[in-house]
Amino acid sequence: MQELDVKISYQCNNACVFCLNKDKRQRKVLPPEEIKRQIEVFAENGGKKLVVSGGEPLISKYFLSLIGFAKQKRVSFLEIQTNARMLCYEEVIKKLKEFEPLTFLVSFHFPNAKLYKKYCRSDGFQQTVEGIKNLVKYNCHFGINTVIMKQNLPYLKGMMKTLKEMGATMIQYRFIDGKNVGKDYEKFVPRYSECLSIIEEIIRENSDINISLREIPVCVLGRESKKHLAPRLNPERLNLNSNRGLSTTEEIESSQFVFPDCKNCSYLTTCQGVRKEYVENYGAKEFKPTVK
Ligand SMILES: C[S@@+](CC[C@H](N)C(=O)[O-])C[C@H]1O[C@@H](n2cnc3c(N)ncnc32)[C@H](O)[C@@H]1O
Ligand code: SF4
Repeated sequence: MQELDVKISYQCNNACVFCLNKDKRQRKVLPPEEIKRQIEVFAENGGKKLVVSGGEPLISKYFLSLIGFAKQKRVSFLEIQTNARMLCYEEVIKKLKEFEPLTFLVSFHFPNAKLYKKYCRSDGFQQTVEGIKNLVKYNCHFGINTVIMKQNLPYLKGMMKTLKEMGATMIQYRFIDGKNVGKDYEKFVPRYSECLSIIEEIIRENSDINISLREIPVCVLGRESKKHLAPRLNPERLNLNSNRGLSTTEEIESSQFVFPDCKNCSYLTTCQGVRKEYVENYGAKEFKPTVK
């Protein structure tokens, strides 16, 4: 299915210190007319799925009119990537239900308000929790996205329990992209070898929930966890960005995942490879390309 990923604005009600779009916060917002024009062209070419992200899309005053426009143009599937703070308001959820089918990818990275405040730089923890509970209450389709980083490694097991108690049924663990933590790279980014035993234990103990892994190279995963690797993003997904205009996911990924040995690996079609910052900081000893 053809997909268009739109960042409505990079403004946010959080200010996560590790955010992969933190460097873009001051960027000028694309005029809504321009976003609509791109949605229209996309729809005319048969595009069916719109992914809305940011910044925090649910704080944008253009959000509802843009998704309404997409629906009018018969872009039938919507994915909203959100920190869920705005979803603590039931009237927001009720309004969004009018645009179904839609799915939410909800960020949940920390187990409590103290760590949330420290790393997301806001008092939004309780709103995020209420937002997730409302998604369950209103029977919305959603998955959780937890970014794996050193700061939450000791809490991942407990967070899984909390999420299940809240009613989550799908969790994606995405390995941190450390491009925006600069000289704190080693403070935030774990080595894969540090997190795998934790992830494997979580997988073993939670067979009642759908767990997927993203941005972890295939060659570091054990047999059981390989089965949980998320499919790669559609390489033809179009990404609308206020600076670069449109670029495909393939173009973006090929500039970020650059470990040269991956080129010869027979897993390369299923695996994204290794980020350049990772190899620069930790070397390449963990990776073993599988060459047929
Ligand atoms: C930049 S956020 C924007 C949407 C929304 N504000 C949120 O936090 O979900 C888009 C996605 O990137 C994820 N993300 C943020 N920082 C990241 C990082 N350093 N590495 C990997 N994923 C990250 C978020 O969890 C979210 O799923
Ligand atoms: S909530 Fe999302 S967009 Fe906002 S700072 Fe955090 S990761 Fe970035």
